[in-house]
Amino acid sequence: MSDGAIVYGTREHWDRVAGVRGVASTDVSVALGSSMLEGRSLGRRRVLDVGTGNGNLPIRAALAGAQALGIDITEPGVRLAAANADSKLEDPDVRARVSFRAMDASALDLPDRSVDLITVLKTIWCLPDIPAACRELRRVLAPGGDLVIQLWGSADDCSLLMVGASLLAEYVTGMHMPAGYRGPFGVTPRYMRGVLTRAGFTRFSVRRHSFEAEFSSPDEYWTLVRSLAGSAYYALTLLGPEQRSELDARLWEALEPVREGDHASLDLEWLVLTTGYDEKLRLVDER
Ligand SMILES: C[S@@+](CC[C@H](N)C(=O)[O-])C[C@H]1O[C@@H](n2cnc3c(N)ncnc32)[C@H](O)[C@@H]1O
Repeated sequence: MSDGAIVYGTREHWDRVAGVRGVASTDVSVALGSSMLEGRSLGRRRVLDVGTGNGNLPIRAALAGAQALGIDITEPGVRLAAANADSKLEDPDVRARVSFRAMDASALDLPDRSVDLITVLKTIWCLPDIPAACRELRRVLAPGGDLVIQLWGSADDCSLLMVGASLLAEYVTGMHMPAGYRGPFGVTPRYMRGVLTRAGFTRFSVRRHSFEAEFSSPDEYWTLVRSLAGSAYYALTLLGPEQRSELDARLWEALEPVREGDHASLDLEWLVLTTGYDEKLRLVDER
């Protein structure tokens, strides 16, 4: 961009987000990961995590016995995820069960029907061409396998994200949104069901989850945001020290109604959409 601003969703954008992304989990990010994997037997299943970020989800899948691959558009992000796996997985057999590759979700370098479970956590609204990515996910998913996509609830039900994000938006001048970008709350179950149906998925279910996150300072609040919304956290790092302390003071004031002294809690609601397709029944003439 001629004004030096970055366009959200480009590879350059994600390279920069990877540069400030932490590998530490928070209670709420652990709960999000658990909601993607709960009730699934993972042993020996081939798992693909799309937009893997720091790789925490495929690391968990490998610990549960899966053969997991995390893919991400950003090379620095993939290196971060691999280093995260090196530090978290001491058992070489478990470490060997997880790998990371740089790949675009809309053009997967993977064979047809080669994975049993696909996870897309905090990522679907980040993809510039959601229908193209869903067609690729349908191609690589084996019949009977599951594609599990996390979506947010309504903005009103996600005060944990919204309080800081709406204040931060007043300060950020260095990021442009691409035309047609739906945003995290514009990618709804209804929209996804249409896209997935056109991509060839035939069964759907949605589960709702919620979490109340607690924190005791603006820094603790931004640590939560870092574990939930890497781009928002990246935007925060663009602020100078004076802007940052002004933002923190405004954040704490905005939280006054839900604060008890230095202690605050905010809600987050999310949905886990599970979809898949089954092999078509073929009528065989056995005469
Ligand atoms: C908000 S982050 C979520 C990361 C991780 N899934 C998590 O739960 O923390 C979105 C991720 O999607 C990746 N990404 C964006 N566009 C992509 C694309 N076209 N193909 C693959 N990954 C992409 C980004 O680099 C980023 O790591």
